[in-house]
Amino acid sequence: MPSSSFSILLRRCRLINQPGSAELVDIAIQDNQIRAIAPQLRQTADQEIDVDGQLVSPPFVESHIHLDSALTAGQPRWNQSGTLFEGIEIWRERKQDLTLEDVKARAIATLKLQASQGVLFVRSHVDVSEPGLTALQGLLEVRQAVKDWMTLQVMAFPQDGIYGAPKNEALLEEALERGADGVGGIPHYELTREEGVRSVHRVFELAAKYNRLIDVHCDEVDDDQSRFLEVMAACAIRSDLGSGVTASHTTAFGSYDNAYAFKLMAFLERTQINFIANPLINITLQGRTDTYPKRRGVTRVKELWGHGLNVSLGNDCIQDPWYSLGTANMLEAAAMAVHVCQMTGMDEINACYDMVTIHGAKTLNLQDDYGVEVGKPANLIVLDASDRYDAIRRRATVRYVISQGQLLVQTEPPKTQWHGDER
Ligand code: FE2
Repeated sequence: MPSSSFSILLRRCRLINQPGSAELVDIAIQDNQIRAIAPQLRQTADQEIDVDGQLVSPPFVESHIHLDSALTAGQPRWNQSGTLFEGIEIWRERKQDLTLEDVKARAIATLKLQASQGVLFVRSHVDVSEPGLTALQGLLEVRQAVKDWMTLQVMAFPQDGIYGAPKNEALLEEALERGADGVGGIPHYELTREEGVRSVHRVFELAAKYNRLIDVHCDEVDDDQSRFLEVMAACAIRSDLGSGVTASHTTAFGSYDNAYAFKLMAFLERTQINFIANPLINITLQGRTDTYPKRRGVTRVKELWGHGLNVSLGNDCIQDPWYSLGTANMLEAAAMAVHVCQMTGMDEINACYDMVTIHGAKTLNLQDDYGVEVGKPANLIVLDASDRYDAIRRRATVRYVISQGQLLVQTEPPKTQWHGDER
């Protein structure tokens, strides 16, 4: 009997990138590294888990969330109109009461909710429009506190606009000096179009100066004249920031006329801009001023993906002034994208799964450390599913979460008993 040579051995795994008929494999883990992947490994391990043919996937990536506002829905009041702008007003009231403890407790509770459902990489925006930068400080401390089980990126986000108040621009830069991983903007909420354009240029300048990632809340309106994405494209083409640039939401892209959209798409193809759609929230937030037909308010996910651009999906909000629902489940976001973006072909459904895993990893610039491959860090999840389609269709339970070589979470799927035949 060979001695125990691995810390964890997962037996009979179905790898996500192999056809259903492929032979099941064992995955060996030691010292936070995937050491071997092969059928019927002869070695033993301290902990052996029989996966029984279930799906093994790289962890989910939440590429767009706001941990600083999470779990505040109804505080101090409910968003009755359901609009982005009422949400911003409510958050402006709520953030007067922020304390470090409040921010950290809600952020960690949300991160645990995410990790419990297989999310091990998170990009969170944090509002840096409040003078004390309490939310920023809270999330920077949380980033450190959770680093042994969760990778958290913190993006400085000027919720009230870089030029919306005199101190906002300096606060944004201070956030980068304090260690935010990236810089954002909200050009469609600046007071004028000119200031919106200026804000995008400022974001690119700051990213270059501090060597940080960019993630701009861009054109999150139904206004077909909101055209700051073209400014981002121009800045991306002229900069060397490459895949470090992300445009979030871009919902106005869904309202542009096709003549403009086709021209813009060709410009975008000259960039490496990542796109993030948040279909759960934007299907509720947008189209509020429409009667009928009522727009879907989601960017052109299928077309961006079809043109070879990197698209990922996020939840954006979990129980906050903009979206009172939310479970942090990435399969919910993927399933909503399948519906709202009409991505019902099998390759399209598979793509929606990839948008909450490998495409999200690309958005976060994680490529080298992400994936179920020998030599990579031992982060993976086991789903009660046979393939990506099955996982999305049934919102499959994540049975096991292995984070940095350790079993972090284990969940039993719901079990139904049929009593009808006994009657
Ligand atoms: Fe957002």
